[in-house]
Amino acid sequence: MAKVTLVYWSGTGNTESMAKAVQKGLKEGGAELDFIDIEDGSLNKEKMLACDIICFGSPACGSEQINEDYFEPLMEELGDKLSGKNVFLFGSFGHGDGEFMDTWKEQVLGFGAKMAHEPVIAEEEPEDDMLEKLTEIGKKLAK
Ligand SMILES: Cc1cc2nc3c(=O)[nH]c(=O)nc-3n(C[C@H](O)[C@H](O)[C@H](O)COP(=O)(O)O)c2cc1C
Repeated sequence: MAKVTLVYWSGTGNTESMAKAVQKGLKEGGAELDFIDIEDGSLNKEKMLACDIICFGSPACGSEQINEDYFEPLMEELGDKLSGKNVFLFGSFGHGDGEFMDTWKEQVLGFGAKMAHEPVIAEEEPEDDMLEKLTEIGKKLAK
């Protein structure tokens, strides 16, 4: 049974819907899961870093950035501690083209992390087929 931490931020609920779809799959797949809204301050970083899989969800914010208040500082703090970790990135975007995710992936790979699955982005509110895809990914990650 995989130990997983999923941590996300969402302003208007789109990334949260994605997070919940991944959560559903992780649970169905039998993962031992910590599911955390980064704003609530309950993230245990040591426990997260000891997990088999770490899922991070952030929408595109600012100018093709991840959330500036919580996720950017978290990434800066974690840095090389992510080396060798299996990470899955997801998030919603709007008027852009998903560039924020390419930048985020590059950053996380630069820390030495591995992609547990290719990042997934959804334009604004995720459609049902996107949510199903995320649930399937969650199931696979749980194994
Ligand atoms: C302040 C702000 C900045 C944004 N910047 C971008 C951006 O750079 N690129 C983009 O594609 N979408 C951008 N968006 C759109 C959001 O990423 C999009 O609405 C997303 O679905 C929000 O997800 P959430 O509901 O999880 O917060 C921005 C939205 C806001 C409010």
